[in-house]
Amino acid sequence: MTHASLLRRITDFSSRADPYPLYEELRRTPVLHEEEGGPYVISSYYDILGLLHDPRISSDATNLIAPGADELSDPEATGLPPSFIRLDPPEHDRLRRIANGSFGPPHRPRRIDSMRGELRRIVTELIDGIGDARRIDLVDQFAYPFPVTVICRLLGVPREDEPRFRAWVDPIVAALDPESRDNPEAPVQRAAQEARVQLGMYLAGLVEQRTREPREDMLSDLVVSHGPDGSMSMMEVLSTAVLLLIAGHETTVNLITNGMLTLLRHPVHLERLREDPGVAANIVEELLRYEPPVQLVPQRTCITDIELRGVTIPKGSRIWLVLAAGNRDPERFKDPDRFDPDREDLQHLGFGSGIHSCFGAPLARVETQIALVELARRLDNPRLVEDPPPYRENAVLRGPRHLNLDIDGVR
Ligand code: HEM
Repeated sequence: MTHASLLRRITDFSSRADPYPLYEELRRTPVLHEEEGGPYVISSYYDILGLLHDPRISSDATNLIAPGADELSDPEATGLPPSFIRLDPPEHDRLRRIANGSFGPPHRPRRIDSMRGELRRIVTELIDGIGDARRIDLVDQFAYPFPVTVICRLLGVPREDEPRFRAWVDPIVAALDPESRDNPEAPVQRAAQEARVQLGMYLAGLVEQRTREPREDMLSDLVVSHGPDGSMSMMEVLSTAVLLLIAGHETTVNLITNGMLTLLRHPVHLERLREDPGVAANIVEELLRYEPPVQLVPQRTCITDIELRGVTIPKGSRIWLVLAAGNRDPERFKDPDRFDPDREDLQHLGFGSGIHSCFGAPLARVETQIALVELARRLDNPRLVEDPPPYRENAVLRGPRHLNLDIDGVR
């Protein structure tokens, strides 16, 4: 296998169902650069971790020498100013701190804790909705509607508006898939553009309302925050709201779906979870290592020349950090291809690391734990209809498009 094919194989759909043998090959060339103007691909755990903490690496795309049409760039494409995931300090830190003031810092996730009951209610309603069906698509019927309902409640979207809100979010998320992104004339892209405008106007109205009459929700906190960093401007609130929506959506869908798929392939652990919900936390951490929804972080640029393993990465180059390859690096994890929730040391890269490490991690963890516990408890004798299931095109946000299960009913 020549090197030239490795970069292509990362994005190639045929790698999607099982990309891990490819990542093993990638790790043999820890700094892979195959194409003029193309990315430097980093796949070893310690290199990725180092770069995620390196201030010479920027998340701001304007530092790129050759921005060009990169099929993995700009997954948000909202037309709004960049949100904090695409900014460097000090702007990144200011906006993230304001957002954190509402969300609760990782060691004190107050809003998330207070949402547990609400999350359980949403999950219960979705599972009740399965009714007498004997075949279900876990993606469409459960994993997809769950996180978007949660984000609505978190931001403070009134319940009666949720269906409208979801009708805008669905086409926006559908258009993130690279398959349709290349063609701005595709109906999916046109629908997404229209939905973005509608969603933007709707959110702007809501923000205005919350500025006048703040409530107990995150939008209100963002506009009336009185900490040392002040509050966000209207445009900053809009960018942040859309970021939370997109960043918290496809990722959580895929973690829940990858989770159920992995448990069905390892029925011993599904059985354990059914008997002891206390193992959910470890199962979810191991899933974030073993089948991470964000396979790679493609939005990084060197702001100066960088030496890594004898290779000089020139200023302005794009860097791809293949988190999912680092998570299976045998230099870091013993027996890395084994799904083992009993590992003592689970410092995975599934939520990234450093200043941009996942802001929504406390929420994503609780959502997925509750979802898997309830699915294990309530689905009677679930079986995979096809293995592997059909996957989404997306190489960055990887997960099944459908996960069809046969069940004997709902308990
Ligand atoms: C950042 C993964 C759920 C909000 C990130 C990053 C990763 C990640 C890998 C780092 C990106 C980078 O370094 O450029 C995940 C996974 C999730 C998940 C696997 C679910 C299983 C969520 C949720 C929310 C969220 C539920 C919001 C409610 C964010 C935000 C950032 C981020 C705002 C940017 C942080 C910053 O730039 O400081 N996420 N995420 N994520 N995530 Fe998540």
